[in-house]
Amino acid sequence: MHSYKERQEELQNAPKTWLITGVAGFIGSNLLETLLKLDQNVVGLDNFSTGFQHNFDEVEKLVSPKQWRRFKFIQGDICSLNDCNAACAGADYVLHQAALGSVPRSIVDPITTNANNITGFLNMLVAARDAKVKQFVYAASSSTYGDHPDLPKKEDVIGNPLSPYAVTKLVNELYSSVFARTYNFNPIGLRYFNIFGQRQDPDGAYAAVIPKWFAALLKDETVFINGDGETSRDFCFIENCVQANIMAATAENDAARNQVYNVAYGERTSLTELFELIQQRVTGHYPEAAKAKPTYRDFRAGDVRHSLADIGKARELIGYNPKFSIAEGLDKAAQWYINKFL
Ligand SMILES: NC(=O)c1ccc[n+]([C@@H]2O[C@H](COP(=O)([O-])OP(=O)(O)OC[C@H]3O[C@@H](n4cnc5c(N)ncnc54)[C@H](O)[C@@H]3O)[C@@H](O)[C@H]2O)c1
Repeated sequence: MHSYKERQEELQNAPKTWLITGVAGFIGSNLLETLLKLDQNVVGLDNFSTGFQHNFDEVEKLVSPKQWRRFKFIQGDICSLNDCNAACAGADYVLHQAALGSVPRSIVDPITTNANNITGFLNMLVAARDAKVKQFVYAASSSTYGDHPDLPKKEDVIGNPLSPYAVTKLVNELYSSVFARTYNFNPIGLRYFNIFGQRQDPDGAYAAVIPKWFAALLKDETVFINGDGETSRDFCFIENCVQANIMAATAENDAARNQVYNVAYGERTSLTELFELIQQRVTGHYPEAAKAKPTYRDFRAGDVRHSLADIGKARELIGYNPKFSIAEGLDKAAQWYINKFL
């Protein structure tokens, strides 16, 4: 099997056309950056519901003018089949990231989450199938493990979903396997485990924990820990996630298709440990942060207690080989948040 480096060289020698949905968001804009740097042609679809023009502005500065001209943006909605069809036309690969993230958001408004994450997903499946794309890769989620207690998580043992968001991500997997059976269209789902890094939005009610804590420490705001701090996650740096997407899309082995894969680093970090790791990095640039103490409050509804992935399946079938540990990823993320806030 080819390494990630070899796969990147192959793509550079023979550029392809990629569709990234959710391209203005955190993961989408990082996929965009990497693919443009590899001289690929990229079509992006986004409705800016949780994505931003400033993510595009940043990527534009990180690539050459020639590479930037290879990006075609469609402002549109995956809830419109027409928009999905327009975006899929001519694509070799689809990296479907558009969805409404956040467990709490889905508890407050399950109907909107359902419309984006299930109806929108189905539209994308139909459009990609009809456009005969070579491979459809989509953002699944570790939330699919739900209440199953086993650690580490293996792909074929899941529990009951704990939130409307988790239901939507499970339904994505169900639709994908039905599309494989009925249309011989074989998507690949990537069950992301707490992805973090540059351009993850620190603002708003539904911000994820790492950006929220960087922002709080850099702005002298209170850091809240939901629960006793022993809740743990398998935090995974964005560059590992980008690698998984590229390796999945270009996988040559038929056995790799119509599968779901854990995308994580394979290490567990408690929230209290995470706070310390972030505080150490911020303190180097902003000594005031050394004084901060987290405030513990109630557990949050819908959250799973522990999360740790077995990444053996992705290693074996798509050649996923994550390069960045949580510490290395936090070093890079810290640089980005420090530049943003200091
Ligand atoms: N970040 C994580 O840790 C994580 C973990 C598990 C799964 N995921 C999944 O990964 C994907 C990307 O997440 P992210 O962290 O980059 O979130 P994000 O909110 O930064 O990006 C999502 C993007 O999708 C766009 N979008 C949403 N609904 C849309 C619609 N109806 N039509 C067109 N565009 C739409 C948003 O505007 C945004 O730009 C999502 O599917 C999310 O559920 C993320």
